[in-house]
Amino acid sequence: MQRVEIAHQCMRLLSQGMQHIEDGPRLPAANLLILWSPARIQMCRKEGYRTTFPGHLNLEQRFRQHRQAIVLCLKNRQTAQPGDMKFGVGLPKDQAHPHLLRQQLGVGATIGFQERHYIGPLLADHGGEVLVTCGAGEAMLDVLLCYVNPGDRVLLTNPTYNGMAQRVRLADGVQVFTDLVEERGWHLDLAALPTQARGCKVLFVMSPVMPVGTVLSHAETEALADAARANDTLLLFNASLDKIVYDGRRVISPATLPGMRERTIIVGSVSKNYNMMGWRIGWAVGPRELLKPVHDVHIFNTIMPSGLAQAGATAALRGSQEGVAASVARYERNRDVLVEGLSAIAGLRVVVPEGGYYCLANISALGVPSTTFCQQLLAEEEVAITPMVAWGSDTFGHQHVRFIFTNEPEERLREAAGRIARFVQRHYAV
Ligand SMILES: Cc1ncc(COP(=O)(O)O)c(C=O)c1O
Repeated sequence: MQRVEIAHQCMRLLSQGMQHIEDGPRLPAANLLILWSPARIQMCRKEGYRTTFPGHLNLEQRFRQHRQAIVLCLKNRQTAQPGDMKFGVGLPKDQAHPHLLRQQLGVGATIGFQERHYIGPLLADHGGEVLVTCGAGEAMLDVLLCYVNPGDRVLLTNPTYNGMAQRVRLADGVQVFTDLVEERGWHLDLAALPTQARGCKVLFVMSPVMPVGTVLSHAETEALADAARANDTLLLFNASLDKIVYDGRRVISPATLPGMRERTIIVGSVSKNYNMMGWRIGWAVGPRELLKPVHDVHIFNTIMPSGLAQAGATAALRGSQEGVAASVARYERNRDVLVEGLSAIAGLRVVVPEGGYYCLANISALGVPSTTFCQQLLAEEEVAITPMVAWGSDTFGHQHVRFIFTNEPEERLREAAGRIARFVQRHYAV
């Protein structure tokens, strides 16, 4: 059978399986939501991790806040009704861009260093080697396992993507935070950065920054590069959302700055830029000498990503980028609608995101913890959003909630803002 036919057959089977698991046609074929199977929900709802034996990794301790956030997400998911507003989980409903399946699939399973032309323009700037992994998540962990010894300090922004913060813990690193300042539109405090970066073994940053949508400026990228050079550290840069930027912005690759190529590894994937999360294809890009140990960890971790999925990812990267541009234009309009709606609610403060899927609202004026706010909002108005605990330092997130604005059409975003306004008015008139 031709590879293309096999791929089509697989996709049909996958989407049938998904309809069984979840609510069917509303979900993108590329997003395998096995994550939400009943058994998984049961497992996560249990009070503790059974794997915590004396002398072994204390997962309960490491993930305590993260678990709360997961359980809330899962509850949201489980209790969701067909009409509910789902702003909690970042899986857009766009189909995987259709040119993927029309392409002749010409790549088999491969391991090791790949041709760099598979990967997008930002990474091509880098001029490095490419290691293909099972998503950016695997790439990040593989790199950390190579370059972080137990107790080593790793610099993260505060807030940050919690998948980055938790992977630092998995690698036994110590999280050190440098603030993104809300009053400066969630940009870095450049005066504080050099001190905070001192003694760190890895600077682990991203742009756009999840969950606030900051696209790091040239000055910020320069400052991070200065800190990396001054401390003789690795800069691990997560570019997973580098195509999802608004108002004509562009993500700057730190590897292009003087003296940075030899100390930068960039990770990315097709998950966000191409709506292909379920395909599990990502990469680490950097000089061969930096990637060699990462390659070895990768082999012992996952061996290789599926060849079929690599073929799909290659088609996405090489094919027409019109679908991506159309999605980004739609996300930008959605962002504007949501920001306008939320900004009109007394007691909520919003910074306009420069990229990404997400918008944070500061609810400190309401005097209610973010977790309570989200739970009540779901119960009363059936709008699912996420409290930002565990998305940065231990003190961050109790006054911030996150909206995903890519999941829903404009009219439902307006409707959601209306429901939130009603809810805030009812409980917290300020
Ligand atoms: C900001 C960010 N970076 C990286 C990842 C990892 O994505 P993947 O492993 O699917 O490439 C995610 C997934 O949600 C993410 O939100």
